[in-house]
Amino acid sequence: MTTRYRVEYALKTHRRDQFIEWIKGLLAVPFVLYSQPTGILNPDAETVTRNSNEAHRRYAEILRDVEHMIDDHIARQNSHNTIPSKLTMLVPTAGPFFTRLPLEAAFKYQDSRRHISSRRYVCPSFNDIRLTLNSAQAMAVTSGSLQLATFDGDVTLYDDGQSLEPSSPVVPRIMDLLRRDVKVGIVTAAGYTTADGYYGRLHGLLDALAASPDLTHRQKRNMVVMGGEANYLFEVDPDAGPSRLRAVPRAEWLTPEMAAWSEQGIVALLDVAEAALRECVRSMSLPAVIVRKDRAVGIVPSDPSIIIPRESLEETVLVVQRILELSALGERAERTIPFCAFNGGRDVFVDIGDKSWGVTVCQKWFAMRDGDPDGMIRGENTLHVGDQFLSAGSNDFKARSVGTTAWIASPAETVELLDELVMLMDREKKVEAN
Ligand code: IMP
Ligand code: MG
Repeated sequence: MTTRYRVEYALKTHRRDQFIEWIKGLLAVPFVLYSQPTGILNPDAETVTRNSNEAHRRYAEILRDVEHMIDDHIARQNSHNTIPSKLTMLVPTAGPFFTRLPLEAAFKYQDSRRHISSRRYVCPSFNDIRLTLNSAQAMAVTSGSLQLATFDGDVTLYDDGQSLEPSSPVVPRIMDLLRRDVKVGIVTAAGYTTADGYYGRLHGLLDALAASPDLTHRQKRNMVVMGGEANYLFEVDPDAGPSRLRAVPRAEWLTPEMAAWSEQGIVALLDVAEAALRECVRSMSLPAVIVRKDRAVGIVPSDPSIIIPRESLEETVLVVQRILELSALGERAERTIPFCAFNGGRDVFVDIGDKSWGVTVCQKWFAMRDGDPDGMIRGENTLHVGDQFLSAGSNDFKARSVGTTAWIASPAETVELLDELVMLMDREKKVEAN
């Protein structure tokens, strides 16, 4: 590892979302200028309301300006203009964007729920902005047409390491998406080779789907499970026996690029990753064991009650990532075989492929199944919901290159987002009807 890399790690730049931090910085200015912390000593309802209205107006104006900057960025990205957009110059890591983002409207919505403008001591936070971006994305994707919603598993649909139980509030909401003819993909890193493993994690949803009296047979089959990031595809089929899932042979869904990943290359890449993981376990004396699979290798705690410190997990991810990138094999393999090394919260895994491939397969699979073998659901009609956009490796982040995304922090936030989506779809329908 180079010194510069270590310095960057120390500064934690890789643990910041630069776009969100930049917006946070812009909103900090009116917060400082217009919040009146001393007003609390002498509360006067009229002044308090006036101050919060003023803060609201300023925040909304700034978000409208950012919204216009994104419009300009999109116009340049679509015309392949080589002159960088103003947004690129300010936030080099920004974009590409699949849709415009109605940030002003999204802020007004979030402000009505979170009362951001009424705060006098706590400025607009990372989470306020993350949720505003999610709302903007939900508004954009529903004002076009949402054709495919993909969901990460752990932390997004259920708590880390848990399962989707029948009582989960997520279950009726995903069924509602299917009822509206939105296709659904569960794109999880969890890698099981057989349907039983996925049934174990998703049984609440799969059983509810099979038993649903009002979803059509077609709608019930509008859901797939993509496991191991991009390695195992299962179609929901209520007639497929107790697991309700039918394994789709790889030959039926591998994209031409994926079909070119050689078995030999995959084994060699996992060998290098395994050796690197072993070395991390040894050098940091981690209480962990190696798990080797046909498409992944990882470390998990040697006893389920052990929590490996986050710092050790992150160090492991960064070391393995670097070794794979720097090794001659990694360079060669990187060109042909992508991998995703990430901190899963309690473990570290290196998977073959990543969620950009997993979501792409869903986009292509549904188009092919509906009779368009060369087609695919487009990025602007796809929404991937996940929790990993910042931690080392962040496996959901990869989905950003193929579709729109929403960044949630808990299953409860997924529920809120799904309610918002449905509300927006209903509103859109009403507008169309008038
Ligand atoms: P996700 O949040 O649904 O993407 O699931 C990530 C979690 O799945 C990881 O944190 C692991 O605990 C678990 N997991 C189980 N098997 C695998 C595997 O083969 N690769 C990656 N993660 C796995
Ligand atoms: Mg997750």
